[in-house]
Amino acid sequence: MTDRYGVMGYPVSHSRSPVIHRLFAAQTGEDIQYELLQVPPNKLEAAIAQFGRTGGKGLNITVPHKTEVARIVDELSERARIAGAVNTVVFRDGSLYGDNTDGIGLIRDLTVNHGLTLKGRNILILGAGGATRGIVSPLLELEPGSVVIANRTFPKARALADQFASEGPVNACRFEDVRSLPIYDLIINATSAGLKGEIPPYPEEAVHPATFCYDLSYSATPTPFTVWAARHGAAKSVMGWGMLVEQAAESFYIWRGVRPETAPVLKQLSVTIS
Ligand code: ATR
Repeated sequence: MTDRYGVMGYPVSHSRSPVIHRLFAAQTGEDIQYELLQVPPNKLEAAIAQFGRTGGKGLNITVPHKTEVARIVDELSERARIAGAVNTVVFRDGSLYGDNTDGIGLIRDLTVNHGLTLKGRNILILGAGGATRGIVSPLLELEPGSVVIANRTFPKARALADQFASEGPVNACRFEDVRSLPIYDLIINATSAGLKGEIPPYPEEAVHPATFCYDLSYSATPTPFTVWAARHGAAKSVMGWGMLVEQAAESFYIWRGVRPETAPVLKQLSVTIS
């Protein structure tokens, strides 16, 4: 019998995960089916249980459920516990295991696909919500020179910087307090502003001609942040399509024990979105 997987979100119709996982399955010869599952927040726990009862082997979890699922699963990976969020669920003999592949997905895209070396480099993260919480620890593992979390609401940035202070050099500030020094090698947009069609007063001072700008969000057309970064002279300005494919590959590996190649899938995806 074909093993069932799927992605739960609300709304979820825009999700590219089914396309990505079907391409992975075709490439690796794994016999799986992957479904889009639109589940409202108040039905989440029941929907996960039902999926498990009907042959479900694994799930991806997306907005707005990632934090809630971390409370529902029986066991959490260390990285999911630190992120406070789950994007990958494994059904294991009646118990639920929750993991989070977003951080490793970002790191692989930055360091493998884009060839960045972050050791000793200065990183600025814009935003201090759930997306930021999931990437600070994986970034600090690369031993950057500094990580600054800038946020509209300063106390949220401060709280995150305090949470990760024991892991490396991380600090917090308001958008308006970002300066042109240190020279930022990498700026990551982890706000949800673009999704809402809003353009916050991102700190222009931070963009240097050598700065690589990365938006965790992605879209068929350039996101407001990537447009802003290019306009202010960034060396490169990219959307998070690579992170999306890399986090999916890591989930696929967790479920199937087989690591798919991401480059051909990213290429095929860019054909379907352009
Ligand atoms: P997520 O889990 O996707 O990170 P979140 O926890 O709601 O979502 O966090 C969203 C982030 O985007 C926050 O840092 C938020 O800033 P505040 O903490 O000040 O709310 C940021 N954000 C969203 N819309 C924004 C806007 N228009 N301007 C500036 N920051 C914005």
